[in-house]
Amino acid sequence: MERLQKVLAHDGVASRRQSEKLIMSGRVRVNGTVVTELGTKVGAHDKIVVDGVPVTTEAPVYILMYKPRSVISTANDDKGRKTVVDLVEGISQRIYPVGRLDYDTAGLLLLTNDGELANRLTHPKYEVEKTYIAKVTGIPTNDEMKSLRQGMTVEGETYAPAKGKIISVDDKKKTAIVSLTIHEGKNHQVKKMLAAVGLPVEKLKREQYGFLTLKGLNAGESRHLKPEEVKELRRLTGLI
Ligand code: URA
Repeated sequence: MERLQKVLAHDGVASRRQSEKLIMSGRVRVNGTVVTELGTKVGAHDKIVVDGVPVTTEAPVYILMYKPRSVISTANDDKGRKTVVDLVEGISQRIYPVGRLDYDTAGLLLLTNDGELANRLTHPKYEVEKTYIAKVTGIPTNDEMKSLRQGMTVEGETYAPAKGKIISVDDKKKTAIVSLTIHEGKNHQVKKMLAAVGLPVEKLKREQYGFLTLKGLNAGESRHLKPEEVKELRRLTGLI
């Protein structure tokens, strides 16, 4: 048996705090009865309904994917394009991506049906470090790398300091490979930061998400997280 607010958060209805508010405002029914008591415990056979909509409790599933380019990282696409969820086979649960990678960005993407962990992983308070490898036009100067390390404001959006490293340069083609580690997850953040210092991104890949890497996977492949990896993500986001 689990506390009702924990189950609602886990099933992705809302964050734990918001779930508490839902319960206290009388919007949650358990087996047909409105429950406003926060301590209420529920089990697998209890029927939970929020605002008249049944909450389904499924076994949690955690997938680490190597997202290829030209795949959209939402669960559904109104233009009918292939989504990351289409790439995962053999899972009956309804899973969704944790945050986003751009259509033309490859790399590490987590998918889960654990709404509470997903909420935490994308919450600014807990956001874990993510490392990107970018091919850029131009050879980065020391000043440009320094600007990345200092953080910046671009078109009114503020980006926290990043860890930046030059991996290699191609003097002939005037391109470079740069690694950038950020802990935020703002829209097109890496492309915007690099473009802002004069290094437009030609190709982008997310290589690391917290302690997780793409080791052993090819583009388009995915694997289940190991129980100890899920535990470590829970620990990093204050859930245990
Ligand atoms: N930053 C970007 O610009 N694009 C991504 O897909 C991820 C981070």
